[in-house]
Amino acid sequence: MSARGAARRGGGYDRPSPRGNFELWSWFFMRISGVLLMFLALYHLLWWNLIVGVHHLSADMVRERWTNPFWRLFNVALISFAMLHGLNGARYSIEDYVRSPGARTAVKTVVYTLVLASLAIGVYALLTFNPDIPRIR
Ligand code: HEM
Repeated sequence: MSARGAARRGGGYDRPSPRGNFELWSWFFMRISGVLLMFLALYHLLWWNLIVGVHHLSADMVRERWTNPFWRLFNVALISFAMLHGLNGARYSIEDYVRSPGARTAVKTVVYTLVLASLAIGVYALLTFNPDIPRIR
C-alpha cells in the first residue's frame, strides 16, 4: 500500500507528507461532494424517471428546462461534483493498485484527460446552449 493509501486508512504513516494539505482538502471534498451528490443526483433521477418519465422525455423538454439559468447551474454543479468525486476516487485506486511509477503516471494521464475533457465539454454545453435556435424538423 502506498504511504498516502496507508494514511487514508489511518495506519502506519504519521510523518507530515509534502502533499499533506492537498490530501486533507481532498478528504473533505469527498465527504462534502458525496453528501451533495446524494441530493443532486437523487433529485435528477427522481425527476426524469418518476415525475416526467423517460417515455415523455424529449429534446423540447430539455430545451425548455435550459431556458432557466437555475437548472443550468444545477447541472453544472451536478456534473462538476460527479466527475471530480469520481476522478478523485479513481486517483485513490490508481495510487493504491498501480505499483510501477511509470505505469501510474500513464494511467493517471489517460484517466485525468478523459474525465477533465468530458467535464469541460459538459460545462461548455450547459453554459453556451442557446434555447432560441430554431428546431430542425
Ligand atoms: C436513467 C437515469 C437518468 C436519466 C433519465 C437522465 C436524464 C437526463 C436529462 C433528460 C438530461 C438533460 C436535461 C436536464 O436535466 O437538464 C440530463 C442531463 C444531465 N444528467 Fe442525467 N439522467 C440520468 C442519470 C444521471 C446520473 C446518474 C447523473 C450523475 C450522477 C446524471 C447527470 C447529468 C448531468 C450532469 C447532466 C447535464 C449534462 C451536460 O453537461 O450537458 N444523470 N440527464
